[in-house]
Amino acid sequence: MIAELLKAATADNHKELESLMFVNEIMNNSLSVDEYKKLLIVNYVIHEKLEDKLISMLDNETANRLEITSRLKLPALEKDLKFWNIDRDALKNLNVDLYLPNNNIAEVLGALYVLEGSTLGGNVIKKHILANPNFKNSTEGLNYYGVYGSELGTKWKNFVLLMNEVVIEADYERCIKCANEMFNNLKNLSKQLNETVKY
Ligand code: HEM
Repeated sequence: MIAELLKAATADNHKELESLMFVNEIMNNSLSVDEYKKLLIVNYVIHEKLEDKLISMLDNETANRLEITSRLKLPALEKDLKFWNIDRDALKNLNVDLYLPNNNIAEVLGALYVLEGSTLGGNVIKKHILANPNFKNSTEGLNYYGVYGSELGTKWKNFVLLMNEVVIEADYERCIKCANEMFNNLKNLSKQLNETVKY
């Protein structure tokens, strides 16, 4: 099944991305607001540049089965940026070089696996931020992490079921490649922002 293979084949990239994304600070409830803003910015730029493009490559049946409009995460990110006074226009002009999958269902689902899977980590991240004294009275600025609320388990299960059904064995390799390229997009952007964006 492709889901298990994806998890194993992207594990190293996940680990690397966790370190770039302040995993220790998150877990010991010491993440600063500036560090949190960086996480939001990375996720915002990726979603602003790619979410719409990826979704428009899904055929109608797959989009309906995924209830794709309920999975859009850009609106939550936009709310968070507004709450934290982060200038969206400056970010839209950022020159980023991102990998985009071909118009092929296995490739698109491989890329979406990364954006969907990040909601699992998001749930953990939100719990820790809520316990972090730096984020008192900030719940209105925490829309992206925890975006699916109590629907998280069902949404993830449905995504995995669909992916396992739709991605055929002959396409496993290209699906896995796209998931790893999506992780690379996030890692590269994270490194680029360290150099270019002032908080
Ligand atoms: C943008 C950054 C991130 C992306 C794209 C991402 C991606 C993913 C993906 C694709 C999965 C699904 C793995 C699978 O079951 O197939 C996952 C799971 C998970 N991630 Fe992340 N992740 C990110 C950041 C983080 C961070 C910073 C943490 C820790 C604070 C974290 C913690 C977790 C946890 C706890 C799971 C659930 C593991 C499980 O239940 O099996 N993630 N993430």
